[in-house]
Amino acid sequence: MSSKRFENKTIIVTGAAGGIGEAYARALAAEGANVVVADLADEKGKQVAADIGGLYVSTDVADEDSAKALAAATADAYGSIDGLVNNAAIYGGMKLDFLITVPWDYYKKFMSVNLDGALNVTRAVYRHMTNGGGAIVNQSSTAAWLYSGFYGLAKVGVNGLTQQLATELGGQNIRVNAIAPGPIDTEATRTTTPKEMVADIVNRLPLKRFGTPEDLVGMCLFLLSDEAGWITGQIFNVDGGQVIRS
Ligand SMILES: NC(=O)c1ccc[n+]([C@@H]2O[C@H](COP(=O)([O-])OP(=O)(O)OC[C@H]3O[C@@H](n4cnc5c(N)ncnc54)[C@H](O)[C@@H]3O)[C@@H](O)[C@H]2O)c1
Repeated sequence: MSSKRFENKTIIVTGAAGGIGEAYARALAAEGANVVVADLADEKGKQVAADIGGLYVSTDVADEDSAKALAAATADAYGSIDGLVNNAAIYGGMKLDFLITVPWDYYKKFMSVNLDGALNVTRAVYRHMTNGGGAIVNQSSTAAWLYSGFYGLAKVGVNGLTQQLATELGGQNIRVNAIAPGPIDTEATRTTTPKEMVADIVNRLPLKRFGTPEDLVGMCLFLLSDEAGWITGQIFNVDGGQVIRS
């Protein structure tokens, strides 16, 4: 296998200013891709883009005009778009609350980013996938399969979106899949989930260790690559065995 699977390919990674998205952006650049870092965190995002020789586009995935501007800036810089990773989400520092008590304003904002954001950016980007097709990877979570309040509910939505969009876009040879990570050691997890809770979850994993962003990179790059050319509408757990479905 060539070590440069993404030479001459252009791939947008949302939420790539840090954490998992940053790991995807760095790995894609290392394999030759033109990487577009799209985030709200401008300072960190610009730094990541500068490090990997990519383009930074300040983007709010929940905003229609912003998503269109991201797609247009990418097409201006590189031409056709080949891949999109819908990774951005409100996660680091999110409110921990229940569905029945979370304030409506917060819930609606949260869903506009964590669920509709993936659809919004996909709607803006797919028209620019003019090089015979494309690949989209949505970031879900094992939280979709386990009770996890409105965070989990948004990821259930991401799974549904993945299946529906795979159906709608398959005729254009645009593949849409999702990765459902288990607990991953990012700054966002460290600041959002109480330590004891993480330790308990990790203890119950068959593979008894915290995941790292690098544990997810192989699946993400595989799904974006031509090797996955006949795979669409699927949700892949990468989770140390946290969820074993029968
Ligand atoms: N860390 C985990 O344990 C874990 C597990 C499963 C799934 N996930 C998912 O993986 C993704 C990344 O998680 P992470 O741990 O790297 O967290 P993170 O909080 O570091 O990453 C989220 C990124 O999205 C950006 N973002 C937030 N709102 C945005 C908006 N409206 N527009 C554009 N960018 C926006 C943030 O600035 C940040 O860079 C998220 O979708 C998260 O739900 C994380």
